[in-house]
Amino acid sequence: MKNRTIKWWAPKIGEEEFRLVRDVLASNYLNDGDITRQFEAKIANLLKVKHAVAVTSGTIAIFLSLKSLDVGYGDEVIIPDMTFIATANAAEMCGAKVILVDIDPKTLNIDIEAINGAITKKTKAIIPVHVTGRGAQMEAILKIAKENNIHIVEDAAEALLSKQNGKYLGAFGDIGCFSLSPNKTITTGQGGFIVTNNDKLAVRLRELKDQGRSKTGSGGDDFHNSIGYNFKFTNLQAAVGLGQLSYLPDRTEKMKKINKLYVNNLKNIEGLKLFEFKEEEVPQWTDALIEKRSELEAYLKSKNINYRNYWFPLHTQLPYKLADDNFINSTKLSPKALWLPSCFDMSDEDVMYVVENIKNFYSR
Ligand SMILES: Cc1ncc(COP(=O)(O)O)c(C=O)c1O
Repeated sequence: MKNRTIKWWAPKIGEEEFRLVRDVLASNYLNDGDITRQFEAKIANLLKVKHAVAVTSGTIAIFLSLKSLDVGYGDEVIIPDMTFIATANAAEMCGAKVILVDIDPKTLNIDIEAINGAITKKTKAIIPVHVTGRGAQMEAILKIAKENNIHIVEDAAEALLSKQNGKYLGAFGDIGCFSLSPNKTITTGQGGFIVTNNDKLAVRLRELKDQGRSKTGSGGDDFHNSIGYNFKFTNLQAAVGLGQLSYLPDRTEKMKKINKLYVNNLKNIEGLKLFEFKEEEVPQWTDALIEKRSELEAYLKSKNINYRNYWFPLHTQLPYKLADDNFINSTKLSPKALWLPSCFDMSDEDVMYVVENIKNFYSR
């Protein structure tokens, strides 16, 4: 038995962030500024897109993206039933109606047939979510969008550096949204960013995050050409982000390695099925469908192993409550799904400790 807990996830801050944050503090310019621009430029370069706009969270990235596409009252936004509630809340915040649809049982991502069945004259946007770093079927989704004149905002909060057909997730739709919250590969405490190849949308997003100003002003005699808000991402956050970016290649490699260790060692176990990742996808975490989930949970807890249960389907949450009828897959799979410990700081020995305990549980 381990005398320390195996965490399901933990962020990590390194020396580089301390140095960069100290520099920002010494500069006396803590607001959204040059360091924020540096962070955005690095992100755009990394994901091979024209523009990156840093904001206060992944939720706000989705909200501002929908706003920039003029999604609002009277519009409908199609969202998968199995996602973190932020995806739906961001659409709701615009005044749009959230239309939940069922998921593909093989990937837990939005189901294409379900999208087709949900489109109406009011549909203005679809938000495919790349759950746990597995790409939604972007080719089919983009085809639907084109045929019906609908916008695509990708929720790539969990898909940093994951690719599909050689292209980074987040770069397929009109706009892609990412989160920098503590359970993501890189974090700034809270934070997020938006990527796009559309010049006009990039300008609009910058206005929206800064009170409708097209350029940074004095806060006095500025021109505010449109309605905007304050969702700026400060130099302090950007300094942390730049430091975190320097560890990104190692972290993604490690996350892939952990997933492979699980996959190779948890084969042919009755009652447990790991979700599969393609070679070009980065497993944000390793997830599985588990029979007797609550019993396994208790067993893992007794061995000091943490895990995280999957989200409840959104249609079962009070603000979005609907009958189960149209959500056969999410209703069936949510109670069986969980995330195994996937922290990029786990040693091989830690992963094997989890593996052995899961095997012990199912062989009892
Ligand atoms: C799929 C998904 N969408 C949206 C978000 C919202 O991001 P944030 O917490 O940065 O607002 C998250 C993460 O928390 C997420 O996992």
